[in-house]
Amino acid sequence: MDAGKGRVALVTGAASGIGRATALELAVRGWEVVGLDRAAGEGVAVTVDVTDTAAVAAAVAGVGRVDLLANVAGTGSTQNVVETPPELWDAVFAVNVRGIFNTCRAVLPGMVERGGGAIVNAASIAGMVGLRDRAAYCASKGAVIALTKAMAIDHVGDGIRVNCVCPGTVDTPWVGRLLEQSGDPEAMRAALVARQPMGRLGRAEEVAKAIAYLASDDAAFVTGTELVIDGGLVAG
Ligand SMILES: NC(=O)c1ccc[n+]([C@@H]2O[C@H](COP(=O)([O-])OP(=O)(O)OC[C@H]3O[C@@H](n4cnc5c(N)ncnc54)[C@H](O)[C@@H]3O)[C@@H](O)[C@H]2O)c1
Repeated sequence: MDAGKGRVALVTGAASGIGRATALELAVRGWEVVGLDRAAGEGVAVTVDVTDTAAVAAAVAGVGRVDLLANVAGTGSTQNVVETPPELWDAVFAVNVRGIFNTCRAVLPGMVERGGGAIVNAASIAGMVGLRDRAAYCASKGAVIALTKAMAIDHVGDGIRVNCVCPGTVDTPWVGRLLEQSGDPEAMRAALVARQPMGRLGRAEEVAKAIAYLASDDAAFVTGTELVIDGGLVAG
């Protein structure tokens, strides 16, 4: 079906939600998938925290050849700037931005040596528009978009493509936790659905297919882009 054909994909955040769906989608398309997460789980071969530079480097060395790096691991925040403890600000950036820096720093030299590869990062519409009470998260995802473009330009001559996806609201355990924390999960779910032009939330599989596309040879002329998968949320 696709151009995986024995090539190796390293997927972070593979224990849950979009990362898990991405690992499954890539496997169907013929990629040899190595799942990485800080949590153990089905499909997780490497248990490591992406914020730990040395541990990530050791883990990537253990994997060996990586043709596709899908950086899906991420964490959120639910405060405006005034309410955000500085430690939380740092923690969000440590996972969402430095985590991607760590994995890319470990994987890119091998890709450069082999003369090619692809990286797909999970950004968010939160990196494109302001979402209320998500200050650290929005800023970190904006950084992911900028980092994606910087790496795309730095490595275009190495045959490496770097892109990101910007999902809208996707029905994963992450959103489930936000609903639980809200005090009235049913009302919050209804509010999230009500703001969707398509009248429904996204599915993890829909983001996984977009990541698989950006990873594939069908996207051979695509680099440095942010692909929005949000059911039209930010179009209006
Ligand atoms: N669900 C959404 O609505 C949505 C929207 C836009 C963007 N995203 C992005 O998609 C990505 C995946 O989100 P999801 O909804 O599948 O979330 P999720 O909570 O279901 O899964 C996230 C996974 O990342 C792992 N992870 C978190 N911190 C880690 C760390 N330091 N090291 C290693 N693994 C770590 C978790 O253990 C978990 O398995 C995130 O980057 C998120 O920001 C999600």
